[in-house]
Amino acid sequence: MGKQWSGRFKEETSDFVESFTESISFDKRLWYYDLMGSKAHAKMLAKTGIISKTDLTEILRGLDEISDEIEKGLFRFRRSMEDIHMNIEVALIEKIGDLGKKLHTARSRNDQIALDIRLFMRDEIKFLLRLLKKLTKVLLKRASSNIDTIMPGYTHLQRAQPVTMAHHLTAYVEMFLRDMERFEDCLKRTDSLPLGACALAGTTFATDRAYVAKLLGFQRISENSMDAVSDRDFIIEFISNASITMMHLSRLAEELVLWSSEEFSFIEISDSFTTGSSIMPQKKNPDVAELVRGKTGRVYGSLITVLTIMKALPLTYNRDMQEDKEPLFNALDTLKGSLTIFTEMLPKIRFNKKRMHKTAHSGFSLATDLAEYLVKKGTPFREAHKITGEIVKYCIDSRKELSDIDISEYNRFSPVIETDLYDYITIEKSLRNKKSRGSASPDEIKKQIERLKKIVIKGKS
Ligand code: ARG
Repeated sequence: MGKQWSGRFKEETSDFVESFTESISFDKRLWYYDLMGSKAHAKMLAKTGIISKTDLTEILRGLDEISDEIEKGLFRFRRSMEDIHMNIEVALIEKIGDLGKKLHTARSRNDQIALDIRLFMRDEIKFLLRLLKKLTKVLLKRASSNIDTIMPGYTHLQRAQPVTMAHHLTAYVEMFLRDMERFEDCLKRTDSLPLGACALAGTTFATDRAYVAKLLGFQRISENSMDAVSDRDFIIEFISNASITMMHLSRLAEELVLWSSEEFSFIEISDSFTTGSSIMPQKKNPDVAELVRGKTGRVYGSLITVLTIMKALPLTYNRDMQEDKEPLFNALDTLKGSLTIFTEMLPKIRFNKKRMHKTAHSGFSLATDLAEYLVKKGTPFREAHKITGEIVKYCIDSRKELSDIDISEYNRFSPVIETDLYDYITIEKSLRNKKSRGSASPDEIKKQIERLKKIVIKGKS
């Protein structure tokens, strides 16, 4: 069969133009949603009397047959039919004859493609929310069993103050929960029916868009037909959210890479999630984490691609918009893969608790506790900070730790220091002494874990 739009053309499309303009090679992924939309559209056409009930029965039978064939891998996708919409429509006409030509009444590929992507994204976002939920559960599980696992907390990648692994991991849970909120929010704007806008201006047929929305389970209906076929904000929002989630995964990936290095030796990633070197027999590389970090670039790239495609498009539909799909699919698949592999890898990481504890100790990580001790003894904070700095300098010069100096030495710097200081400058005390909400205190972290568990369990998906 020839092209459905060939009426006003004298010449055939050249082979190269056909291969340059086709989208079936990637939009066939939307087949299920294209059929879903067509069935709802046909039902609406019958309900409003635009086609007859018998027409509808035949059209639905034909569409179901196509669905069956695609599912079984028997359907022949044709490049000459350009995109998923034409491939299905032409197959329908071949199956049920001229009746099939009625399906496209009061519809255009412009509102059809907008519908297909929205239907597809609605399911994909829900799936992603489930993946994020699984990841947060794994992080919370690891956090719960590491409430007392002490490690150094860093700023500027310099040892700063002691924290616990539970505190560190729950920081990521906070990030992923924010990501979930962003996806839920973007779902609201994706969940709007564009079908019925037709090419751009609507139709002279008295269609029933509310009925189509009800059949397809849309919460809203796009109110402006020109906006309906031009809008790709929901795709940009989605990839932008995906970029933020990838950024979070990439930061965690970076920490895993650092922590598994000989220099840190904080963790060991199980053999099943690492790879060897082809030349250096001793190597065990954290490739999974590195690849997640690297793949973040693709997702950012996809965001810039779609933003750039859309930036100067005049209303309404322009063929440029066909270019939105590959970056969208790429970002989506990368995110799904990265979330899945992290969820599987995290339980297989061994924490080297002794090493982390030892590292948390060194580097004057309790200097802030010493300063706070001085403040509690009546020294203004700025002065306490200065005195502590001098003590640290003294320790460095005399190669001592804070716990090595005796009270008479301490009193050279401040007369308020007494033996109760030693209660402040152990790591365990430092953590337990923390009082503020959200702090490193193990009791506070326990509370935070309970709170997070409740949020994750009651989560929408
Ligand atoms: N393949 C097209 C896309 O992805 C479908 C819409 C085509 N519409 C048109 N008037 N050529 O955007």
